[in-house]
Parts: sequence; C-alpha cells; structure tokens
Amino acid sequence: MALVTGGAGALGAATGLRLARAGSRVVLVDVDGDGAERAAERITAQTSLPVIGRKADVTAEADVERLIAEIAAEHGRLDQLVNAAGRNARGGFAEMREDWDQVVAVNLWGPALLCHAAADLMGRHGGAIVNIGSRTWLSGGPAAYAASKAGLVGLTRALAVELGPRGITVNAVAPSMVITPFTRRDRSDAEFAAIVERHEAMSAVPGLASAEDVANAVAFLASPEARFITGEVLHVAGGAQLAPRP
Ligand SMILES: NC(=O)c1ccc[n+]([C@@H]2O[C@H](COP(=O)([O-])OP(=O)(O)OC[C@H]3O[C@@H](n4cnc5c(N)ncnc54)[C@H](O)[C@@H]3O)[C@@H](O)[C@H]2O)c1
Repeated sequence: MALVTGGAGALGAATGLRLARAGSRVVLVDVDGDGAERAAERITAQTSLPVIGRKADVTAEADVERLIAEIAAEHGRLDQLVNAAGRNARGGFAEMREDWDQVVAVNLWGPALLCHAAADLMGRHGGAIVNIGSRTWLSGGPAAYAASKAGLVGLTRALAVELGPRGITVNAVAPSMVITPFTRRDRSDAEFAAIVERHEAMSAVPGLASAEDVANAVAFLASPEARFITGEVLHVAGGAQLAPRP
C-alpha cells in the first residue's frame, strides 16, 4: 500500500502512476481533494488499477491522523509513504513573514506529521519513506523554500536513524527544475522562458528533469531493491546540484 501526498500535483501524480505500475495499491492525497480524485481516475484509466484519491491537508494533524487510521482500517498496512505536497514563495527575504510559516508548514511540518502518524503502521512490517526535497536545499533559492527543503533533509536523516531499527528506510529525492504548474505559476511567458534557459544552463546533462525522471528515482528508493539505503539524498538534477558552469 502506497500513500502519496501532493497527489493532485504533477510530481505526486507521476509518482502514483509509477508506483501503481510497479504493483503498489496507491492512495493519492491532496488538499485539493477533487484534483486527487481526478488524478486517481486518470491512473486507473491508464493501468486498470484501483487508485484512490483523498482530501487532506498535510499541515492539519487531525487530517493526517484520520488518513492513516483509514488506511489502517481499510488496508491493514502501509508500505510506502511519499511526501510530495509542496509550496513555494518566490518573494525576497526582506518582505517575507506569512509566507515563511506557510511554506515551512507544508514542506517540513507536513512530512513530519505524516512520518509520525505512519511510523507505527509501517513499523509492523517495515516500509520506505521518500521525501521530495529540492536541489535548492544545497544550492540555495527562495529563502523559506530552500530552508524548508534543507530542513526536510535534516528530518530525513534523523528519521533514518530513528526508524531504521523498525525496518523503515527514509530517503529524499532532490529534483532540479521540472516544468509543472508549480514552476509555471505566477510567471509571464518571458519570465518563464528566462528561468527555463537559466536552469538548462546550470545542468551538466542537457535539458531539464521530467516528472517521470523524479518518479523513477522515488520508485527505486521505495522499492525492495533499495532496502539497505537510508538517510540519502538522491539528486535528480542532471548535475545542477554541483557548481554551475563558469
Ligand atoms: N516542479 C519542480 O520544479 C520541483 C523541483 C524541485 C522540487 N519540487 C517539489 O516537488 C513537490 C511537487 O511539486 P510539483 O511540481 O508536483 O507541484 P504541484 O504544484 O503540481 O503539486 C503540489 C501539490 O501539493 C498540494 N498541496 C499544497 N499544500 C498542501 C497541503 N497543505 N496539504 C496537501 N496537499 C498540499 C497542492 O494542492 C498540489 O497539488 C513539491 O514538494 C516541490 O517542492 C518541485
């Protein structure tokens, strides 16, 4: 049984599809419950597998606990948890205040709540947690976003140590820019073209990452093939996590 947050989003839905194709029963969860249901229906249409869409806010402890209790009651187990729900704030550091709390709540507190609520159910038989970070944890970026994603790496490493004895691995996947609503939102065509060009120039491997590139990395870390890998950050960044070319 796999639970993917941010399941209405581009990377969450691509990951849900990839995990379903690998044989997992998948629940997609999103604060946009209708979007999660639509994404689940699309995957079911593509795979003939019964994927479920559910509404939950990952920052609301009651939502998260209800969700895990429902999975325990309906399925009796949870093998894979992917924390893909995310939020960005692109403004400068100087004018930031509310944004900071919201970004950190979704990107860091949400995964912490999910991991906390899921650990007992997963610990009955072992499992894999994969947190979707970002290249910016290492290279920097918008302050609240980069700080939340660096915090997520800290959480990943701490929980890898704490949950390992219960048979649970905890890893992160850190993508560079993928063209999704997340990166397209609130940008003019010219701004977007400039940002794409800048990211392509930072990448050693030509081009940008795709949602499928990210989903493949998540699926590996969530699979039995990665059973002895924990506490790692797997960059899906074409080398953009290294120094940009001079
Ligand atoms: N697209 C990129 O370039 C890129 C690069 C690096 C990392 N990431 C990370 O990948 C993840 C997915 O990004 P995406 O491109 O698919 O974005 P997206 O905007 O398509 O999807 C994000 C999803 O998270 C959901 N969400 C937001 N707040 C939530 C909450 N409180 N509870 C539940 N769901 C909530 C949104 O409704 C949305 O469906 C994010 O964590 C993002 O930081 C994206």
